[in-house]
Amino acid sequence: MRVLVIGSGAREHALLLALARDPGVEALMCAPGNAGIAKVAEQHPVDASSGEAVTALAKEVSADLVVIGPEVPLVLGVADAVRAAGIACFGPSADAARIEGSKAFAKDVMAAAGVRTAHSEIVDNPAELDAALDRFGPNWVVKDDGLAAGKGVVVTTDRDAARDHAAELLETGHPVLLESFLDGPEVSLFCLVDGETVVPLLPAQDHKRVGDGDTGPNTGGMGAYTPLPWLPAETVTAIVDDVVKPVAAELVKRGSGFSGLLYAGLAIGTAGPAVVEFNCRFGDPETQAVLALLETPLGEVLNATATGTLDTVGELQWRDGAAVTVVVAAENYPATPRTGDAIVGSDGDGVLHAGTKLVDGKVVSAGGRVLSVVGVGDDLTAARNDAYAKIETIKLPGSHFRSDIGLSAVEGKITIPS
Ligand code: GLY
Repeated sequence: MRVLVIGSGAREHALLLALARDPGVEALMCAPGNAGIAKVAEQHPVDASSGEAVTALAKEVSADLVVIGPEVPLVLGVADAVRAAGIACFGPSADAARIEGSKAFAKDVMAAAGVRTAHSEIVDNPAELDAALDRFGPNWVVKDDGLAAGKGVVVTTDRDAARDHAAELLETGHPVLLESFLDGPEVSLFCLVDGETVVPLLPAQDHKRVGDGDTGPNTGGMGAYTPLPWLPAETVTAIVDDVVKPVAAELVKRGSGFSGLLYAGLAIGTAGPAVVEFNCRFGDPETQAVLALLETPLGEVLNATATGTLDTVGELQWRDGAAVTVVVAAENYPATPRTGDAIVGSDGDGVLHAGTKLVDGKVVSAGGRVLSVVGVGDDLTAARNDAYAKIETIKLPGSHFRSDIGLSAVEGKITIPS
């Protein structure tokens, strides 16, 4: 099978490395890729948001399967264009991708499916902001009602900070979503979904704040670990049965059946799991950790999902132990990251590239989240040690990373409220 992956982040690098381990995958291509991906896959330039451009490239490289990594092309209908050209594509239609692209659609689907989620209100008129804020908080959860790569979210006990963020979004023409705060630790559960067939991957936890101890602003994700020693297996089963399957069935009922990766972000609170958000694609940086433990050939399951035969795959197989991803971010990320610095140690084992490019044969930083360093081990402590030992070998001026990825879980400090 010849596989073309669309995207340029560490998530796509992780997908490509896992695909490279699948004996059924004979050729790997990526567009547009990055400096690290160039070592695993043939790279091609592409406008990833253009269905026409991606389809033309898929034909040119004789791809049997196109895997679309990021949400923006999915929301814009790139998967529809690829499928319309008769090429198998892993990723939902634009219609189904509204589960991430439109928060109003997602809330409506969840209400119809009987799935617990935060109460929310959309504010698009600045004159209504103060009264709306008074109906929420503390804590206030203020989101950009569109795609914002995780950075449009502010969760705060400070009403002024909530107001400032909402006002800034409104000033730039973005409607604001206010949500009630969901208590309990967060879980990312990725599920392969083909209509009503749902196959879960291992649960993971992201670390969204920039600083140790969950301090500072939200980011696209500073690290993740899997599996979650504090999460009972029956809770994962309950999430699949009571959250993901009803949502998949509701999408089918609406004629917007989902095909691809449905990512449920949940808070496990006093009343059980509640949905924080759905995403229509693999999450970053959880994917880098989750795929490091996958033993089932990835190409086979992505292709089965894309061709409507996921029901033939069965449970996925995993290596024992744990995996941890630690993101190495550029100076001043998540504000305006410094770029253009040479990186030492970027070609190490378990070092996945995100914001990198080749300049005169040297790997230089080219984005906010620059590298994802993945450690694996027999348990979470060993996986953390492996990741942080690998980070020691990397030099990027001004860069920073969190030193506590997975630490609360190791210390037994994560508990589900009862
Ligand atoms: N892990 C957050 C995201 O992928 O959106």
